[in-house]
Amino acid sequence: MKTPTARLDKLLSGMGYASRREIQMLARNGRIRLDGAPLSAGDERLKLTPDLEDRLDVDGEGLDPLPGFALMLHKPLGVTCSHKEAGPLVYDLLPARWRRREPAISTVGRLDKETSGLLLMTDDGALLHRIISPRRHVPKRYRAHLARPLEGTEAAAFASGTLMLEGEDKPLKPAELEPVGEREAVLTVHEGRYHQVRRMFAALGNHVEALHRERIGGLDLPEDLAAGQWRRLTVEDIAAIFLAPSSDTR
Ligand code: URA
Repeated sequence: MKTPTARLDKLLSGMGYASRREIQMLARNGRIRLDGAPLSAGDERLKLTPDLEDRLDVDGEGLDPLPGFALMLHKPLGVTCSHKEAGPLVYDLLPARWRRREPAISTVGRLDKETSGLLLMTDDGALLHRIISPRRHVPKRYRAHLARPLEGTEAAAFASGTLMLEGEDKPLKPAELEPVGEREAVLTVHEGRYHQVRRMFAALGNHVEALHRERIGGLDLPEDLAAGQWRRLTVEDIAAIFLAPSSDTR
């Protein structure tokens, strides 16, 4: 397959560095270098190979991720998965320049403002749709702390495939619940309805006090990724999303 190419000014402006005209100025002033040698013309065509990120620098700084990348964020409590709502947004946790990227970075689904845990973000629309597509059933695992003790009937109700959420006319797909304490449970769901986990417990008369997403598909939130931190997904991470995960809940 032929390696795609891009014009330097178009590539860097799409990555949020500056306008195309400003990129041309930067190039003319020798501030953009490939393998250490200045690229003098903004209209130069570059091969979009993955190693371009390591070979190209702007003002001595390594290049941001090329288009078509994905990351995991440990979403903290109190930040919103939105491009435009008021208050702190998940996008504020990423480098400021990334806000100007085109294609834009989006969250892969959403977590509520008061839910923490594993959130994927990408500028790759095809990848995003593969993960959220209802046909793929990528499972999502949550840890919920509840206001009231579990009654022991919840696992069967969630597994039944007949539970209805208030205001909806289609039953939920079966979901797996494992109690891990009197008021704590791990729940794996295979769809992504609005406030799904909170509404599932509400349907049984309980209330979720704290909610944290631990896993998407076979990809775990790493223990060493603190709240508010992010890291890029590797090829292996992306493959793990689509692997059937094991069912351990530790
Ligand atoms: N279910 C919820 O209720 N909230 C989330 O953020 C995710 C799943």
